[in-house]
Amino acid sequence: MMNLKSLLKSAKLATFVHHQCESESIEVLKELSSFTASMPNAQMQISADQGDFLSFLVRILSAKKIIEIGTFTGYSSLCMALALPDDAKLIACDINDDWMKIAIKFWKKAKVDHKISVKLAPALETIELLSKDVDNLSSFDLAFIDADKLNNYNYYNNLLPLIKLNGVIVLDNALPGDHKTGEFKNDKNRIELIEKIKQDNRSITNLFTIGAGFLVITKIK
Ligand SMILES: C[S@@+](CC[C@H](N)C(=O)[O-])C[C@H]1O[C@@H](n2cnc3c(N)ncnc32)[C@H](O)[C@@H]1O
Repeated sequence: MMNLKSLLKSAKLATFVHHQCESESIEVLKELSSFTASMPNAQMQISADQGDFLSFLVRILSAKKIIEIGTFTGYSSLCMALALPDDAKLIACDINDDWMKIAIKFWKKAKVDHKISVKLAPALETIELLSKDVDNLSSFDLAFIDADKLNNYNYYNNLLPLIKLNGVIVLDNALPGDHKTGEFKNDKNRIELIEKIKQDNRSITNLFTIGAGFLVITKIK
């Protein structure tokens, strides 16, 4: 099922890209995508090419410890969990029990549920709790942020101490673009967020025009 959360406005090009995706060759991911497409909030799911980008990151980082902020029906976490080795862990944070139940059902179907631990609570509280355990500091290879957008800076700032040196934080929906026209939109929140994170000398920030925009932040200090 085609996911339209993209600023790529040529339908032919979008379809071509979609069909090239590794995620599109994995039956359980396609099933989850089709299931989610029938839900009212379907557009919240990341696109297949974004899923590919996340699984690519998991592999090149040789990730063993991941945290996801905003799980919904579990598509992005499933993309990452499928790329993780068996002894690795992904912490999936969300506040919606009904959506998490769907996610768990598909993780079980994909036989990756043993790699995922669920935290059903406001993610800032979960991050605060994790931060109290010194073993968690500088221990995560990857964080994916895709939840309540107004907390994006707080998520970034509070997650950074948990991330390893050269570890990565990916933030979704970063592009200040109009989803209908694909044109630039003077979206102050998004623009200021990028500028603020870019000024932080603890990290290097790259903006990728994939899906609705991935801000990829590498911890360097
Ligand atoms: C855009 S959706 C995530 C989509 C998911 N990454 C995917 O690809 O399918 C955002 C999710 O963030 C969750 N959320 C919103 N506020 C939250 C909070 N304060 N803490 C944790 N999760 C939150 C919502 O319940 C929703 O499931």
